[in-house]
Amino acid sequence: MKGLAQSLLALSILSSSVLAFDRPALVLQDGSATVGDIHRTQGPRPNIVFILVDDQDLQLGSLSYTPHINRYIRDQGIFYKNHFVTTALCCPSRVSLWTGKQAHNTNVTEIYPPYGGYPKFVTEGHNDNWLPLWLQDAGYNTYYTGKLFNSHTVDNYHSPFVRGFNSSDFALDPYTYQYLHPVYQRDQDDPVDYAGRHTIDVIRQKALGYLDDAIAESEDRPFFLTIAPIAPHSNFEMANDSDVTTFRFSAPIPLDRHRGWFPNAKVPRTANFNPDSPSGVNWIRTLPQQDQASIDSNDEFYRARLRALQGVDELVEDVIHALDSAAVLENTYIFYTSDNGYHIGQHRLHPGKECGFEEDIRVPMFIRGPGIPSGEEVEAPTTHIDLAPTIFEIAGIPLRDEFDGTAVPFEPGQDGRKEHVHVEYWGKAGFEGETSRMPNGGPVAFRNNTYKALRVLGDGYNLYYSVWCTNEHELYDLATDPHELTNLHPSANSTAEQLLGFPIEKVISRLDALLLVLKSCQGISCTKPWDVLHPAGDVQTLRDALADSFDVFYQSQVRVEYGWCEEGYILEAEGAQVPAVYQGTRWSDWW
Ligand SMILES: *[C@@H]1O[C@H](CO)[C@@H](O)[C@H](O)[C@H]1NC(C)=O
Ligand SMILES: *[C@@H]1O[C@H](CO)[C@@H](O)[C@H](O)[C@H]1NC(C)=O
Ligand SMILES: *[C@@H]1O[C@H](CO)[C@@H](O)[C@H](O)[C@H]1NC(C)=O
Ligand SMILES: *[C@@H]1O[C@H](CO)[C@@H](O)[C@H](O)[C@H]1NC(C)=O
Ligand SMILES: *[C@@H]1O[C@H](CO)[C@@H](O)[C@H](O)[C@H]1NC(C)=O
Repeated sequence: MKGLAQSLLALSILSSSVLAFDRPALVLQDGSATVGDIHRTQGPRPNIVFILVDDQDLQLGSLSYTPHINRYIRDQGIFYKNHFVTTALCCPSRVSLWTGKQAHNTNVTEIYPPYGGYPKFVTEGHNDNWLPLWLQDAGYNTYYTGKLFNSHTVDNYHSPFVRGFNSSDFALDPYTYQYLHPVYQRDQDDPVDYAGRHTIDVIRQKALGYLDDAIAESEDRPFFLTIAPIAPHSNFEMANDSDVTTFRFSAPIPLDRHRGWFPNAKVPRTANFNPDSPSGVNWIRTLPQQDQASIDSNDEFYRARLRALQGVDELVEDVIHALDSAAVLENTYIFYTSDNGYHIGQHRLHPGKECGFEEDIRVPMFIRGPGIPSGEEVEAPTTHIDLAPTIFEIAGIPLRDEFDGTAVPFEPGQDGRKEHVHVEYWGKAGFEGETSRMPNGGPVAFRNNTYKALRVLGDGYNLYYSVWCTNEHELYDLATDPHELTNLHPSANSTAEQLLGFPIEKVISRLDALLLVLKSCQGISCTKPWDVLHPAGDVQTLRDALADSFDVFYQSQVRVEYGWCEEGYILEAEGAQVPAVYQGTRWSDWW
């Protein structure tokens, strides 16, 4: 609680209006007070800076190379150790983040039309109903610089303009991922070509400029600023600058001063790194083991990511210093996270994302700010869907019914909040490294990468369960198999008979029913899915659902099943949508 007290002290020094409040200590000693309560009762509303990077991993160790991010954000706040994205792909993940909804409720599921990208964000109505607009309505000034969504281009940026920001300066396609040839577009101005300048230098200047503006304009309205650098995403090059079909992905390009850093860094050689036997299902199972040339090249790609990330690490220090020298640091929440994770070599995969494995769905996630203890870790599972509600909580805005998540805990030890994460994906998967090209030099793409999955992290269990559009299944027990190498599902010819001390089919019946609810959940049914199956409210966890008295109910429950594979959210292909509801009577009602 030391951090909390310090923050409060700083808060009260910061603003004379805080000094007028007579009971800050009381609120703080009351364990039930949330961060939002603190601000609702105590004066100036906090600012929020949201740093959203692109494709940064948690599992591959990138945080061992980011001293400023660790020192100024992680160590000053909370590290959400079990934080997941719900769709492991930039645009769908970002739309879910900024709307507080699962991708099946945004129906932005791809990076380009017809199923995704900026045009789909607009046609689905999100441009008129999303976080920056809600924050403006609630009295915030809002600013954004960097990458917003894929397929937000030099041709469509004005049809319509992005809504919700007092000022914005977006990186636009097809230049978004061109480290040395970015194009940015401010407010309603024409795009500006920064050929020859490094994208991190450009965004740094814009971010610090916005901080100055935001601070200067924050007398009556606090600010919300998003800084969204593209590092450490792969670089995108076009052989012919006026022909986007000539593109290829290559290793990210660091700032000159970071070239050659970490010459000995390598992808961690975990048990799932380029394994001798294939793992996973579907197209992943067909991948050949990588040869030494590929491994070497992918290690170099890994180092390039770490080097590109240094620009972000330095930018974080600049942001902290700017907030500090303007004396607003202690009244500012800072979020740091990534739109999705990344794999390099695990399960024989070449560099990329889009899978349901831990590497792709887990991301770094930190929050520091007033009332948040420093150097703490939260174990409870949290997701990107929870972040819009979290920002609402901080800003003191009543939550919207349409939110599919709930605010993250602001201190450790708040168990029992929820134990599930619902991961969903539609469409293709691709590779981005140097070593995995198609004969024409383009990146490899795999179809039928459509699946629904669950992570369940509860008292005594740590599971991953998935159903693919091919009706293949995966079931991993991460307590004993943290690298997801042993598929325990009977369809994978597993001989496992027991899981968590129960017959494995029994556990699967519960997981499948939970997935059935979550795949079409909305609002409260996403946060309290067991209430859909058990309206009496007597089942809140997987453990509760495993009671013998529910065996018959779960055995006869409709199963998650696809009719066929689609590249988007086509309801007809996705089987039953509505679960049977438990009608039985509890023994306690009889005796
Ligand atoms: C930011 O935009 C909101 C909504 O249009 C407006 O009420 C507010 O005055 C603007 N802030 C500044 C500093 O212009
Ligand atoms: C680049 O592409 C444009 C548009 O397709 C084409 O007109 C032009 O000839 C190409 N230039 C080169 C050097 O290939
Ligand atoms: C399971 O065993 C059958 C019969 O030997 C085989 O055809 C099938 O490929 C196996 N499936 C997997 C996932 O190993
Ligand atoms: C994709 O799945 C469909 C079934 O929906 C199947 O017919 C097709 O062969 C699969 N394609 C690949 C490349 O696996
Ligand atoms: C999602 O969007 C696609 C493309 O516009 C559309 O075909 C599909 O029906 C939508 N899905 C749902 C469930 O509305």
